[in-house]
Amino acid sequence: MKRINQLLVGSGILIVSACTTGQKPEKRSALMAHEDEITALIDRMTLEEKVNMLHGKHMFSSAGVERLGIADVEYADGPFGIREEMEPNSWNPLGLTTDSATFFPTGSALAATWSEALAYDYGTGMAKEARLRGKDMILGPAINIQRLPTGGRTYEYLSEDPLLSAALSVGYTLGAQDNGAAVCLKHYALNNQENDRGSIDVKVSARAMREIYLPPFEAAVREADAYGVMAAYNKVEGYWCSENAMLLQRILRDEWGFRGMVISDWGGTHSTVGAVTAGLNVEMPGSRYMGEALLDSVKAGVVSESVIDTRVREILRVRLTIAPIPRTEANKVMTSQPAQQQIAYNVAAHSIVLLKHDGNLLPIDSKKFKSIAVIGDNAVRRQSQGGVGAGVKALYEVTPLEGITNRLQESGVTIKWAQGYHGYTARDRYTRVSPYSDADPKLVTEAVQLAKTSDLVIFVGGNNREVETEGSDRIGITLPMGQDELLQKLAAANPRLVAVMVTGAPLDLRRAQEAAPAMLISWFNGSEGGNALADVLMGKVSPSGKLPFTFPLQLDDSPAYKLKVYPQEATQKQGDVFVNLVDKKEAAQQGGPVADYAEDIFVGYRWFDTKEVPVLYPFGHGLSYTTFTYSDLQVRADEKTLYATLQLSNDGSRNGEEVVQLYVGRPDSQIERPLKELKSFRRIALQPGEKKEVEIQIPLEKLRHWDETTNDWKLEAGAADVLIGSSSQDIRLSGTVQIAAR
Ligand code: BGC
Repeated sequence: MKRINQLLVGSGILIVSACTTGQKPEKRSALMAHEDEITALIDRMTLEEKVNMLHGKHMFSSAGVERLGIADVEYADGPFGIREEMEPNSWNPLGLTTDSATFFPTGSALAATWSEALAYDYGTGMAKEARLRGKDMILGPAINIQRLPTGGRTYEYLSEDPLLSAALSVGYTLGAQDNGAAVCLKHYALNNQENDRGSIDVKVSARAMREIYLPPFEAAVREADAYGVMAAYNKVEGYWCSENAMLLQRILRDEWGFRGMVISDWGGTHSTVGAVTAGLNVEMPGSRYMGEALLDSVKAGVVSESVIDTRVREILRVRLTIAPIPRTEANKVMTSQPAQQQIAYNVAAHSIVLLKHDGNLLPIDSKKFKSIAVIGDNAVRRQSQGGVGAGVKALYEVTPLEGITNRLQESGVTIKWAQGYHGYTARDRYTRVSPYSDADPKLVTEAVQLAKTSDLVIFVGGNNREVETEGSDRIGITLPMGQDELLQKLAAANPRLVAVMVTGAPLDLRRAQEAAPAMLISWFNGSEGGNALADVLMGKVSPSGKLPFTFPLQLDDSPAYKLKVYPQEATQKQGDVFVNLVDKKEAAQQGGPVADYAEDIFVGYRWFDTKEVPVLYPFGHGLSYTTFTYSDLQVRADEKTLYATLQLSNDGSRNGEEVVQLYVGRPDSQIERPLKELKSFRRIALQPGEKKEVEIQIPLEKLRHWDETTNDWKLEAGAADVLIGSSSQDIRLSGTVQIAAR
């Protein structure tokens, strides 16, 4: 497929528009309500005052103009809890007593809910806590596509699928902005790996960029009027994202109608003239390029003052839309509040995925099992912090062991814990000890002993926040610290074994699933994670989460590995903007490695499905304690819309929620396409015996592909198979419609 650099000539000037969709932004941005006032303010500002707004003031703020009553912009990391207060110019915490926040389930957990409504609540919760702390802009949601199973920040991101990611980005953005805080969509764009993120140059086809990587950003801008965007660390087609005119001007502003402000990722600015003219508003957190150097460039006539005025206007739009909170009003009460804790619980309870359910062990019957062994380091480990990057100083975090103990308090069941394996530590990571070490015989013996003398074993393992971290990708997906071996021995000691995997990303669970008849994924699931897990295990809540990404059988099956375009050779150094500054400098001088997105549009299940590569657990998979029956599919299409109607019934004996997934395949397509693609989904709650009609409407424009010959979206005429499933590989109903030629 054609490369987008064909749209660029040497100096970075765009000669062919990559954005001729002819679409106008969906609705007028709320940011446009103050234009006259802004003009008047800019007229009164000195050049120095203007430039002073275009870079960091402190680590998490950029300046306003006090003289004119323009408040500073206060930023808050994001994306899964409001970060504690820091000293103005360092990463050191201030140590306040009121800045403990709610730890919300991380990105892939939110995505596993497949619920735009819960994403809205999540955004609401984040905004409420941001406002209590006097923050204007949340540095989130983090919405890059989970391209690699090993990506260090997969746990922060949402999904391997653009439609699911887009729906949740929209929900989060609306929820946050309806409640008074701006979002900052990050990291724009194509920041899909952590290794060498500060130096890689992404090579991607225009089609893959449009169909896979940009939709979550586009939807949050067009449909939810996102006010902020963070430019990513990497380059795209030769240009740093913070000075990439194609991304920042042509696509984001000209095509999508973005009216807000773009800030750099921390330390991700690389030039003065290039950045400000391409569309960067604020260099964060310092002023190396957009401070004195920018002032000099304007004075020397290299940058026109009208460019500065435009960048200031874009910031002021956000500043005048988001009411500033006086410093005296911020931090008066504890950040984490019960309403937000409830949201964290709701998200967690809907996110847990039941992967496997044999052996009739679940839900746990406390009359049947009088002694329960809870085994594993993750049963007692808090996941709100760890690794590099934003953590949450959580007011509290209920661990799995605490949750299980809380919920079984009055049942008379004895609960005992054994560590089973060593949790991977920060020290291990810094000294580059591999997480993929052997089991510790002493811990195994102890755990096996406990398993033998208990009626039921609940193993809580998986990754932790030192294994999955910003700044570096994982080197594999096997279970860390000898957990496979431990699981095998536990199963031999007691076959009544339920395995709970705490993770934000895919794992190789082949051996684990042989050992455990029942297995769940419970994510890095926030302050209430342990309670939500216990409620699912005990059956108060029927599991209803669905995988937002594929679990491959083995890492080498996944597209970038199979095509040997990842890891790039230079990544052996694991250089990072923070982790290894020497490497960053070196890499930047050498031009950095190329990240070749050779798998093109075949990301995640699109690859496995189309190439017929078997997987362990498919995208969209997730079982329930009850049974859903799908029937009576009717499909039709008119000029503008595809309509599908079906009946869904709960034929089991428990309440449950099902996520109905609608995929579309184009059997006679003249172009290369995935076998099928997710085009819609609905989460439906049903009581036992209840039946509901599910109606889905899809605007036909959602079926378009990016045509690289015209650089525009195109709707292909012909047959479209409508496939309704409980997962991408569990298709229950199908029908076909004809898309008319136009
Ligand atoms: C991360 C951003 C984050 C920023 C500020 C960067 O390293 O990539 O996601 O918002 O730091 O903490």
